[in-house]
Amino acid sequence: MYKIAKLNKISPVGLARLTDDYQITENVDEANGILVRSADMLSMEFSDDLMAVARAGAGVNNIPLERCAQKGIVVFNTPGANANAVKELVICGMLMAMRNVPAGIEWAKGLAPNDEMDVAKQVEKGKSKYAGHEIYGKTLGVVGLGAIGRKIAEACSALGMDIVGYDPFVTECEGVKVYTDLKEMLAEADIVTLHLPANDATKKMINADVISAMKDGVLLLNFSRDKLVNEDDLLAALESGKVSQYVCDFPNDHMVGKPGVILTPHLGASSAEAEDNCAEMAVKEIRDYFEDGNIINSVNFAKLDMGQRTGCRVALMVKDMENPVAEVMDLLSAAKAPVTKCMASQSKFGPAYVLAELSEACDVEINDPKVMSVRVLK
Ligand code: MLT
Repeated sequence: MYKIAKLNKISPVGLARLTDDYQITENVDEANGILVRSADMLSMEFSDDLMAVARAGAGVNNIPLERCAQKGIVVFNTPGANANAVKELVICGMLMAMRNVPAGIEWAKGLAPNDEMDVAKQVEKGKSKYAGHEIYGKTLGVVGLGAIGRKIAEACSALGMDIVGYDPFVTECEGVKVYTDLKEMLAEADIVTLHLPANDATKKMINADVISAMKDGVLLLNFSRDKLVNEDDLLAALESGKVSQYVCDFPNDHMVGKPGVILTPHLGASSAEAEDNCAEMAVKEIRDYFEDGNIINSVNFAKLDMGQRTGCRVALMVKDMENPVAEVMDLLSAAKAPVTKCMASQSKFGPAYVLAELSEACDVEINDPKVMSVRVLK
C-alpha cells in the first residue's frame, strides 16, 4: 500500500485514478508520494519514506529539486497538461490590455444617470478615452517555445499576428521566425510574452538592458513567474513609456497598484479542464514510477522508460557510482537476481536510478553503502 499526501487541492478526477493500492494520508511524514500545486516545499524536511513528488503543473520553483534528488526523491511535473488554459488566458490578457478593457470596465462600473445625461449617453460621449488597438497584423514575440509558447504562437498566428520567437534550446518551430539572439527578436515585437521556467539562469532576465532592446511602447505579458523580471527596471520602463503595459499573473507587494500594471491572481492554469488534466497526469506519473519503475517527465532525473511491467523488476537508487548499470549488474548478479535488461537514469544532482528487469520474480537483498534504496516490483 502506497501513501499519498496532497499539499494543495488536487482535482478528484486525478485522485480517482489512484487504485486500491494507494491511500490518501493527511500525515505528510508517512507519505511515499506527494501531489502538489504551488505550495512552498523549499524549506520542508523529507522523510525517508518519500519516493516521489508530482507537481500538478509546469513550474517547479516551489520544490527543492537538488535536495530531493540527493535524497533519491524523484520530482515530476506535468508539461503541456495546462498549456491550453494558459494560452487562453494569455490571449485574454493581450486583448484586455490592447483594448483597454480593465480601465473601461472600471469606468463603466462608476457610471450613474445624472440631470444632464443618462448612462447610455455618457458612454457614447466618454468612450473614446478607452479606444485601443487590434492585435491583427501586430508582431508577437514569444520568449520560450515549449508546450505553452508553441500553442500561443499557433493561436495568435491564426488571429492574424506575425510570430517571432526565442528559446535557447529551440532552433525551429512551425509558423515562428526563431531567433538565436533574444535582443534581435525583441526588437521586432510589438507584444512580448514570457514562457520560461523560473530558475537561476532565468531569474530577473528581463532587466533594463533587455528591455532597452524592445520596441518603444511594447506590451509585456508574464504568465510564467514574477521572478523572471527585474521589477525595479520594469517600473522605470513603464514610467518612461518604453513599456506601455505589463500584464502579469503573479501579483506581489512590489507591483500591486502600480500604473500600467494589470494583475490577475495566478489564474493561468486555473481552469477546471487544466486542473483535471494536470492531476490525472501527475497521478499517472507517480503510478508509472511506483508500479512499473519508469521515470517520465521528471525534472531532477533523466527519462527512463522500460514500458509496462509484465514480470518482476528491481529499482535501485544509488550514489557515487561511475557506471551505475555495470555496478548494479554486478551487485544483482552477486544477489543471484536473474537480470535480462538494465537501464539507468542519471540525476544531474548526483544520485542515479537503475531499473533492472528479471526473468523470474525473486527477493533481492543488497547491502552496499552506494545503494540508497532497493524496491522489488512484482
Ligand atoms: C504552472 O506552473 O503550471 C502553474 O503555475 C500551475 C498552477 O497554477 O498550479
